[in-house]
Amino acid sequence: MPEINRSINSLGSGFAAFLTPPPEDVIRFTVGQPDFRTPEPVVDAAKLALDSGLHGYTRSQGSIELCKAVANHLQKYDVSYSHEDVLVAPGCKQALLYAMMVCLNPEDEVLLLAPAWPSYDAMLKLVHAKPVHVKVHRHDYHPDFEAIEQAITPKTKAIILNSPNNPTGAVYFPDEIKRIVNIAQRHDLWIFDDMIYADLVYSDHPYLSPASLPQGKNRTVTIGGWSKIWAMTGWRLGWIAGPGVVMEGVKTCQANSASHVPTFLMPPAEVALSLIEEPRQMFQDFEKRRRVFHELLSEIPGLKAPMPEGAFYILVDISETGMDDITFANRLLEEARVQVIPGSLMPHGENLVRMSYATSIENITEGCKRIRKWLELIMP
Ligand SMILES: Cc1ncc(COP(=O)(O)O)c(C=O)c1O
Repeated sequence: MPEINRSINSLGSGFAAFLTPPPEDVIRFTVGQPDFRTPEPVVDAAKLALDSGLHGYTRSQGSIELCKAVANHLQKYDVSYSHEDVLVAPGCKQALLYAMMVCLNPEDEVLLLAPAWPSYDAMLKLVHAKPVHVKVHRHDYHPDFEAIEQAITPKTKAIILNSPNNPTGAVYFPDEIKRIVNIAQRHDLWIFDDMIYADLVYSDHPYLSPASLPQGKNRTVTIGGWSKIWAMTGWRLGWIAGPGVVMEGVKTCQANSASHVPTFLMPPAEVALSLIEEPRQMFQDFEKRRRVFHELLSEIPGLKAPMPEGAFYILVDISETGMDDITFANRLLEEARVQVIPGSLMPHGENLVRMSYATSIENITEGCKRIRKWLELIMP
């Protein structure tokens, strides 16, 4: 048999091992997708588009109307792109991969603020670039600038930003984004800004786009999508916008691979961007869950977590329980019927577990009760 790509087996499978759907009696704090239905007007627009015959090939970048709607949406964050420099891709994930394919060469080093969402690491390896995991501060999961400066070498080519962050729930302060832009400028780096959780900020400080800063605009590739605040994970819709030279490459990547996202998904994607009430309602629910979850967890001896500032994750330090995070997650599932993600599936995630609050208050309350009882029983 001919040899396969030598690096393919070195890619991790992320959280997969801990995402297996458990039996019904298990409370799942693992899933990173909203537990809401896609808003009805979006679903209706998709049905209408199918009925009206939008079945054929179309503009690779996405319809002009949709690209304009994305450009208009990004104005909300003071980022201004021409619709010609916007492309709609099959998910934020695919858009990230395009950004890497266009901006990186083999052996280029890319900084990740760690623990980082595992797909970045795997995607970078797919394009033969080298992920460099730089540990964030443990007390608040914000960037450690000394560590970032120390990690930079002549081969460093980019930094990936994800704020609000999966898995930490941190939202970086405007000053931190400015410092990152400054570092990128000094070392001539690309910034891949994964802003998929930008509308899920609960802290007083908002999401700040590096592309909204004069020094950041020409080196930032902005990537986001419909999965989270519009509850559209299965629709596979994401966007990418950036400097013209990058976007020409991105258009080439898409034209020669996916061609485009399904034609009949373009009108509903546009409808989603026009909604106000439905995303607001989901936001309010997440915000309430975050407060309840954090309060219940902080009453449990042995667990410590900063208040999440955004997204829908709490990253909990379990070191005081005396267990490592893999043992903690496995035993919690077996003995207390609660499923969580162990942090050491990500570099610098040791002794942490990620809990998602994309689930009901009832589940959050019951899950925390089980964790508390279980720890009381097994901890001296
Ligand atoms: C940080 C981050 N980026 C991107 C994605 C994937 O987005 P999409 O569903 O649009 O591919 C996720 C999904 O969990 C995520 O957490």
